[in-house]
Amino acid sequence: MKFNTKTIHAGVHPDPSTGAIMTPIFQTSTYVQQGVGNHKGFEYSRTGNPTRSALEASIAALESGNYGACFGSGLAAIDAVIKMLDPGDEVISTNDLYGGTFRIFTSIFEKYGIKFHFTPMGDVSKVEELINKNTKLLWVETPTNPMMNIIDIKEMSAIAKKHDILLAVDNTFATPYLQRPLELGADIVMHSVTKYLGGHSDVVMGALVCKDSNLADEIYRIQNSSGAVCGPMDSFLVLRGIKTLHLRMQRHCENGKELAYFLKDHNKVDQVYWPGFEDHPNHQVAKEQMSDFGGMISFTLKGNRLEDALKVVEKVKVFTLAESLGGVESLIGHPATMTHASIPKDIREESGVVDSLIRLSVGIEDIEDLKADLANSLA
Ligand SMILES: Cc1ncc(COP(=O)(O)O)c(C=O)c1O
Repeated sequence: MKFNTKTIHAGVHPDPSTGAIMTPIFQTSTYVQQGVGNHKGFEYSRTGNPTRSALEASIAALESGNYGACFGSGLAAIDAVIKMLDPGDEVISTNDLYGGTFRIFTSIFEKYGIKFHFTPMGDVSKVEELINKNTKLLWVETPTNPMMNIIDIKEMSAIAKKHDILLAVDNTFATPYLQRPLELGADIVMHSVTKYLGGHSDVVMGALVCKDSNLADEIYRIQNSSGAVCGPMDSFLVLRGIKTLHLRMQRHCENGKELAYFLKDHNKVDQVYWPGFEDHPNHQVAKEQMSDFGGMISFTLKGNRLEDALKVVEKVKVFTLAESLGGVESLIGHPATMTHASIPKDIREESGVVDSLIRLSVGIEDIEDLKADLANSLA
């Protein structure tokens, strides 16, 4: 199946007992056994639930993987990846990443003896310099949140393979509609399903996808042992959301492009970070590994004053000031005080998260309303 057909059909089948075309919400914790161990494939809903299984199959298919596993949040999915490691193991991660990912790495896993290195991943030689015999995982987020840097997944995969290290890619911003890391050599794809896959700002969920069966066994072992699973109602909502992923993403990209150029021309705006610009430092890589440039944009204001940025994010009327991204509605955020507040000021400023940085998650409303809203609040 082609991608736009997969969003509607992959992983889902009419319910055999009723013919219901939509996968039912199997709101059950357990399953009747005819005799000990004699059941229909499900024993207990932490281990497996039919609504969650349909969603896991759907997301796996979208990412060109063989195995999917869904979790109670994106962070629970990240937690499962790091739990594959042992004390003494080392991880190399991009330095420009979602604040919550930085927080789980440093405030949870460092104390269990896992060492994290944060480095810009545009420069392959810098990444390679950090590799030693303890390095077990490369953690890539691309496009990065919120600076919209692009990391070359094929290049990272070549290094990972050379040194026998796992490569995990957080594909939350791009979604499989724009970019499929497993096709580019990654071992694990991670999603905050909360964002574009869910698409309607009504669910918090995470997912992992891989191709390799040994890796999948390990992911399922941790999913079942740690138990951070999502429920059947949320699985149903995401199954429904995914059916329009391709349509939503197409509009997110169109609106994102218009607003990126609008901001670039605006006299109050300093820098605009959007990988679709030809002068974006990683534009060529973005063009090669993504099919379009998405609906996420960050920008700074001339003068770089915190109070100006706070005024802009508070004056909008169609955009909503809120954490999160990827829903149908346009959101505006101030990373330094919101999503990235958990990163120390010197580290966040080094990666570009300065006081006047504003992040947009461009929704699928009428573009003229979005432009007028930003023009008004910038004025
Ligand atoms: C790129 C990225 N990765 C991971 C996460 C964490 O996901 P969740 O909030 O679903 O736990 C987020 C949340 O904003 C994110 O933006």
